[in-house]
Amino acid sequence: MCGIVGYIGDEQAAPILLDGLSRLEYRGYDSAGMAVYDGQKINVVKSKGRLKILNELTHGGETLPGMLGIGHTRWATHGEPSDTNAHPHYNSDESIVVVHNGIIENYLKLKKKLEAHGYEFRSETDTEVIAQLLDFYYKGNPLQAITKIMHRMEGSYALGIIFKDHPDELYAVRKDSPLIVGHAKTGNIIASDVPAILRYTRDVYFIENEEIVRMTKDTMEFFNVDEEPIEKTSTRIEWDVNAAEKGGYEHFMLKEMYEQPKAITDTFSPRIKDGKIVIEELGMTDEEIRAIKKIMIVACGSAYHTGMTSKYIYEGLARIPVEVDLASEFRYRNPILEEGTLVIIISQSGETADSLAALREAKKRGARVLGIVNVVGSSIAREADNVMYTWAGPEIAVATTKAYSAQLIAQYLLAMKFAYVRGKLDDAGLASMLDDLRELPSQVEMLLNNKEKIQKFANRYLAAREVFFIGRGIDYAISMEGSLKLKEISYIHSEAYAAGELKHGTISLIEDGTLVTAVLTQPDLYKKMISNIVEVKTRGAFVLAVTNTGNTEVEKTADYVIYIPETNRYFTNSLAIIPLQLFGYYVSIGKGCDVDKPRNLAKSVTVE
Ligand code: AGP
Repeated sequence: MCGIVGYIGDEQAAPILLDGLSRLEYRGYDSAGMAVYDGQKINVVKSKGRLKILNELTHGGETLPGMLGIGHTRWATHGEPSDTNAHPHYNSDESIVVVHNGIIENYLKLKKKLEAHGYEFRSETDTEVIAQLLDFYYKGNPLQAITKIMHRMEGSYALGIIFKDHPDELYAVRKDSPLIVGHAKTGNIIASDVPAILRYTRDVYFIENEEIVRMTKDTMEFFNVDEEPIEKTSTRIEWDVNAAEKGGYEHFMLKEMYEQPKAITDTFSPRIKDGKIVIEELGMTDEEIRAIKKIMIVACGSAYHTGMTSKYIYEGLARIPVEVDLASEFRYRNPILEEGTLVIIISQSGETADSLAALREAKKRGARVLGIVNVVGSSIAREADNVMYTWAGPEIAVATTKAYSAQLIAQYLLAMKFAYVRGKLDDAGLASMLDDLRELPSQVEMLLNNKEKIQKFANRYLAAREVFFIGRGIDYAISMEGSLKLKEISYIHSEAYAAGELKHGTISLIEDGTLVTAVLTQPDLYKKMISNIVEVKTRGAFVLAVTNTGNTEVEKTADYVIYIPETNRYFTNSLAIIPLQLFGYYVSIGKGCDVDKPRNLAKSVTVE
């Protein structure tokens, strides 16, 4: 997500902004910029690329004199990474300048209204709409203009705002995107997150939703959305800077696991309108959806695993035949793509070499290609015919968690939409599935908050030499992801197996004490899974079962049972993955592995 820093005080602002932004680089970004008031006007410098470029452009801030400024690192959401789309954004006479973290969901509607009033736009961003909307409402009173736009905007925002004819004031506003402010020795600071401010103060104010801050170099005032003054107390931050970058979590992976409820919500909520699934970016009419004869899902690693999951859902719900393939295989096997095949390329980074090559192969064969991507403006996002973004925000840990969960959500939405349009899912069925979908974030949060049981269990298996993950149907798909999580961060060999396939050879590997994780969340397959558990138990295995609340029958055979809450049968992977992620994580740290940067791995495999 984006990073914001603002300063007003007795020192030059630009060096402080650059320092603060450098401490937010961990958040992931693709461009950066600053705006500083020099006594006459507000000067803006911004560019695509790393902070280093901004540093060089401004000679470490020297070419931007002034003691009031705002800075920004952008994680692109609306509008590709570019100099023009970089923040800060401003109104036509550059008298109002804004930096923003979040997503304005109704920005297109607001943009159209402003254009009707003669406003022109330079960028594709939702943030420029904020600057122009402020201009539209501004009549000399910044606070009034700010509260007016707050009543018009839908979505999430943390804002830093400068008004040229109020050069002694710096404004900040928050709704859903985090924002903190603090008194520094030489002035006042705003920031998206603690690391940017710790060097200047440990006493911060956490801005709550729909609160506005007006600060001068010596004062700090807080208001609510009705412009009424409010009292706030500061919080003492005891974290060290390194911990602060992880939001107080020990590792990025744990932090990102805990961000899954938000990643899930952010991925589905903009695409459910009045009880219907609206995926504008899909670029397909209902007729084109009805004309789909086959779906070909192509990806690598965890992204491939989400394709394995969604195969069962597209086929089960929408009755569309699905083939799932590894990108590194697909690209070299001269694939047959018949008329009416929709190719879906799934990729968190959008830069995975094999997946990008597979996309090009598919397009060469005339197939329509949809990308499901997390990084806005990445190669796969740009080269796909259409792209459906997962709004997981930047993922730093090499082992994917929140992006994986968001990819599942994107595919649930597609499968439900396709099923509904093709008459396989009626209004009542859709409504019931959407109810279950909306429950997922809080259910994931509950599983994360009850991590002690799996943490204790993990500590018993630090010395394990190999682990098996078994499941049937959608539980086979989640077993693949559970196995990969363990392998890639704890270096323990593990294997995912279709439970019904064990007796065709692999069961010979089961010995006394071998850990087998059995996932059974599909009621119609419970009995089959129980007999598979009995099979491995009789050969000495120790069985950890992950199953639905209420399926206590499993306790008669499995040695250790983790329950997940009830949900739609097609959504269980979103819940079953949580204990499996936690298991891998705690085994990894128990073994002293580098959980965020496992050996031999890169976050994005941009080479073959
Ligand atoms: C998952 O934890 C791994 N980091 C890896 O398997 C990853 O999913 C794979 O490399 C695909 O990456 P992508 O989603 O960025 O294309």
